[in-house]
Amino acid sequence: MNTYRIAVIAGDGIGKEVIPAGIQVLKIAAEQGGFALDFTELPWGCDYYLQHGRMLDADGVDRLLTFDAVYLGAIGDPRVSDAVSARELILPVRQRLFQYVNLRPMRLMAGIRSPLANRGPADIDMICVRENSEGEYCGMGGRLHAGSPLEMASQTGIFTRQGIERIARYAFKVAQQRPRRLLASATKSNALQHAMVLWDEVVAGVAKEFPDVTYQKYHVDALCARMVTHPQTLDVIVASNLFGDILTDIGSAISGSLGVGPGGNINPERTTPSMFEPIHGSAPDIAGRGIANPIAAIWAGAMMLDHLGERAAHDSILAAIERVIGEETVKTPDLGGKATTADMATAVTSALRR
Ligand code: NAI
Ligand code: MG
Repeated sequence: MNTYRIAVIAGDGIGKEVIPAGIQVLKIAAEQGGFALDFTELPWGCDYYLQHGRMLDADGVDRLLTFDAVYLGAIGDPRVSDAVSARELILPVRQRLFQYVNLRPMRLMAGIRSPLANRGPADIDMICVRENSEGEYCGMGGRLHAGSPLEMASQTGIFTRQGIERIARYAFKVAQQRPRRLLASATKSNALQHAMVLWDEVVAGVAKEFPDVTYQKYHVDALCARMVTHPQTLDVIVASNLFGDILTDIGSAISGSLGVGPGGNINPERTTPSMFEPIHGSAPDIAGRGIANPIAAIWAGAMMLDHLGERAAHDSILAAIERVIGEETVKTPDLGGKATTADMATAVTSALRR
């Protein structure tokens, strides 16, 4: 029997609520699929920072290397600056584990109402392939003359030919496997005349390898508008780190709730573990009340199983999620109901068992 070793970083706020719900579902899926999941909980996050002055242990990233995958909740706490919590945990893990692909499905499920009027599941079914290791979030730059009237800050974006080429190639391959075979590239080469012109050149070059995929570039602002006005025309979107971050919040909002969208931070070469997480944050406004929607975390767990080679288990979790959402009897408050996180997790596990 295959056993997968999973590092669990539930993190902060609702991360601590949705990850146990996800684990409950994953355990059933493993039982049914004839494989085992060995979970190791790591206490990292903002509470850890407040006690120890660091977000994770000094050898934390090295320890993650010994696992098959990482299952992450959310990181962020009002008592700790977001610049510290994200910069010291999530971003270094993504970079140092070479998780250069951030894969984010954005799909309106039957049973959820989109805030866009008259849009159904056939209209909103996209996936964003976001560059996850360089670009605007590379972390280079600094502050000069801090606190003085002369103060200045610089934040540099780094775009490499290799970085753009590998994300573009991954995105074209994703597009090739989907029925519509459309790829939209988010650019802004009218204003960012160095980085985004290189982006466009490299993506157009990779496009030649994929004649069966229809490729179109859009300026990112126009693409934001298109997601709202013509979502049915979008299938796969490839975007830089910052653009992908913004576009996927629009995508999950039009899909009905931030509580539904999952994400994978993937190293396609599999030389290091990949990391799976809901795309939402720690939601301090609802944390501690047991009402967070665990669907995004459960779906992220399913993506993790798919990455580990357990495609059938992924498919049965997705089918169980779709059944529960479609039946509309168990809904957390973000979906207009009164169910708790635990109610939702139990509904998904019983749908899995049905
Ligand atoms: P957020 O995603 O935590 O919350 C935005 C809104 O969506 C809130 O009203 C929240 O209640 C709601 N929401 C989010 N997830 C939900 C769920 N599962 N069920 C029901 N409602 C849900 O984003 P926000 O408020 O901007 O950030 C809060 C903290 O999380 C910050 O410290 C931020 O830095 C951090 N964050 C961490 C991320 C990560 O760990 N990858 C990603 C985004 C934000
Ligand atoms: Mg974001």
